[in-house]
Amino acid sequence: MKRLLSPSMMCADFRNLEREVRALEKAGSDLFHIDVMDGVYTPNLTLGLQDIKAIRSLTSLPLDAHLMMVNPGDKIDWFIKAGCDIIYIHPKADAFPTKTLLKIKEAGVHPGIAINPEESVESVREMLPLCDDLLIMSVHPGFAGQKFLDFVEPKIKELVKLKSTYGYTIFLDGNCTPAVIEKYANIGVDGFVLGTSALFRDGLSYQEALAGLR
Ligand code: DX5
Ligand code: ZN
Repeated sequence: MKRLLSPSMMCADFRNLEREVRALEKAGSDLFHIDVMDGVYTPNLTLGLQDIKAIRSLTSLPLDAHLMMVNPGDKIDWFIKAGCDIIYIHPKADAFPTKTLLKIKEAGVHPGIAINPEESVESVREMLPLCDDLLIMSVHPGFAGQKFLDFVEPKIKELVKLKSTYGYTIFLDGNCTPAVIEKYANIGVDGFVLGTSALFRDGLSYQEALAGLR
């Protein structure tokens, strides 16, 4: 099964965005992970619509937008229009998350939910049939360079087991080191968000990093 590798663009060198996008694509990336934060849901600000539009103009690879913001439903058209292929919302940040997921689907974009470390499968079960993709957070959302939270392992295994029931694709987001990727790809996780733990590291070319993760 092919491991889907998704560079976290918040970790890229924004002084040279075009060079980064082209180098990451040439190195074999499968899609681009775009962390959007509003400074309210998470205490950080990262990429915005301008960045999505710029990246969209540079590649035909899928873009997945990870919306770490309150009331994503009110803003979802912005990301649909900007050309995102997958849009993840944090359900607790939305008054009507199933409504938002259905709206994403109706627009021909893949809907997904980002599941925080403290959120159980039970707490999101009603949304699983509406998701094409799941983003399982193995760190608390908002910052790169954090440590993998091992207590999410049972939940990962539970959601992998439910893949055949709901048909979603599973991505892991947060401190995905080569060892984490090896371990969780082997138990059925489909894709990985690559940040400072496996890709954006001094002395490692994008080509070498991605080849080593295949
Ligand atoms: C948070 C971000 C981070 C980051 C991943 O939502 O998605 O998880 O980009 O990179 P590292 O490997 O630094 O955790
Ligand atoms: Zn993310």
